[in-house]
Amino acid sequence: MIAKKIFLAIASSTFTLALSPVGSGTWTSVSPSFSVQECAGGSVSGDTFTLPTSPNGSTSGAGCSNGHLRAERRYNNDYTSGIHQFGGEFTITSLTGDRIALKQTFNGSTGPYFIMGIKSTGDIYDVEGGATIASGVAKVGSTVQINTVHDANKQTYVVYVNGNESFTTSAPGGSFYDKCGAYTSDSGSGAITVTWSNVEFWTQ
Ligand SMILES: *[C@@H]1O[C@H](CO)[C@@H](O)[C@H](O)[C@H]1NC(C)=O
Ligand SMILES: *[C@@H]1O[C@H](CO)[C@@H](O)[C@H](O)[C@H]1NC(C)=O
Ligand SMILES: *[C@@H]1O[C@H](CO)[C@@H](O)[C@H](O)[C@H]1NC(C)=O
Repeated sequence: MIAKKIFLAIASSTFTLALSPVGSGTWTSVSPSFSVQECAGGSVSGDTFTLPTSPNGSTSGAGCSNGHLRAERRYNNDYTSGIHQFGGEFTITSLTGDRIALKQTFNGSTGPYFIMGIKSTGDIYDVEGGATIASGVAKVGSTVQINTVHDANKQTYVVYVNGNESFTTSAPGGSFYDKCGAYTSDSGSGAITVTWSNVEFWTQ
């Protein structure tokens, strides 16, 4: 019994604990590359994304033309059909801001299609439609697992919070890709420091 406990302690400290995909069907793991977007004072260091309180006035750089604070990864997982899952865990380590997007699915030609944001209350919400996805779970210091499943064939999009199916919406046609990190919504403000770990992608 003691030996088993020691083994588990060593195993969990030595290896990254990979997430499992949610939802039905057979998933294939994929590893898209990404580029980093830093705008208006936002900065990315490894898997840590930081926004200051307010933008620095700069609109230069990839994805920076609207002058919003941004510190994000743009994954090169562009797709027009099939079923696509994102999984990852975020932990907010400091927050004085409000209404900050942590994960987006972009419609390649027209801009964001789905934006998952957090509020200072710890709520996770749908920035475009306003619906609450999960109440009070995104507290400073809490790790929250997010999975999204976008069935581009059936045009459905489902968000899982800590493994629970929490939100479903319809999707348009088009070309899509995922982003994660931190980005202030139209009504939002910094500051925030958030980490994303165990980010993984699967398709079927
Ligand atoms: C504003 O911040 C961005 C990075 O987010 C940086 O590239 C730019 O140089 C900064 N501009 C000023 C005026 O500080
Ligand atoms: C999933 O949702 C149920 C019912 O809303 C809740 O009791 C449970 O704690 C949730 N599980 C997680 C892991 O959040
Ligand atoms: C998404 O992009 C496609 C073209 O690729 C366009 O036909 C569609 O209207 C767009 N939908 C939204 C909601 O942006």
